Amino acid sequence: MSAKTAPATIAGPGELTHPFELPGLGYGHDALAPVIDAETMELHHGKHHQAYVDKLNDAVKDDASAKGKSLGELMAGVSKLPKAVRNNGGGHWNHTFFWASMTAPGKGGEPEGGLKAAIDKAFGSFDDFKSKFEAAGVGQFGSGWAWLIVNGSGELEITSTPNQDNPLMDVAEKPGKPILGNDVWEHAYYITYRNKRPDYLKAWWKVVDWSVIGQRYAEATK
Ligand SMILES: [Fe+2]
Repeated sequence: MSAKTAPATIAGPGELTHPFELPGLGYGHDALAPVIDAETMELHHGKHHQAYVDKLNDAVKDDASAKGKSLGELMAGVSKLPKAVRNNGGGHWNHTFFWASMTAPGKGGEPEGGLKAAIDKAFGSFDDFKSKFEAAGVGQFGSGWAWLIVNGSGELEITSTPNQDNPLMDVAEKPGKPILGNDVWEHAYYITYRNKRPDYLKAWWKVVDWSVIGQRYAEATK
């Protein structure tokens, strides 16, 4: 494990401030195999995410309008900031959120309680939800993310964003509080799944940690 700092579960965007740091995973690079292979995790966390952190620090360092703000504040006003803050701030937050959403295959359980009821109400059933979320990931043209969010009315909604945008940004078409997100950039799946993004999206459910997603749902709706 390359963790130098606390696992990704702890910090919300409002707690992340300059200088930004790569969070630890909280599990080993091989912990999610065979769903996500160790080489993918090593590159994705140690190289891709690290690069977002480094470039975000550079972008914020010399920009008076961005300096001193938390990552949450940066994302909420990202339309007025340099493109490097949008791309790399999103990259840092999205990946921090993503690592904390996963656990070893088969250990993540299923949605329970209020989250389960909300999924059934919004999408019909857990299986229907999964199909719709996968379709959002497949349908995101090019690089981006598929999300499950709590919208302004307190309801669950599925959305997707391009590049490293996310629903917390003031540029989001469907704003809301994300409780689950899957990275559909090729760097997230290409070593194991090659060009088969639908296969990756389908397999990924085995590593989602539903206790974490349930906590996020409770937090987003209280
Ligand atoms: Fe990624």
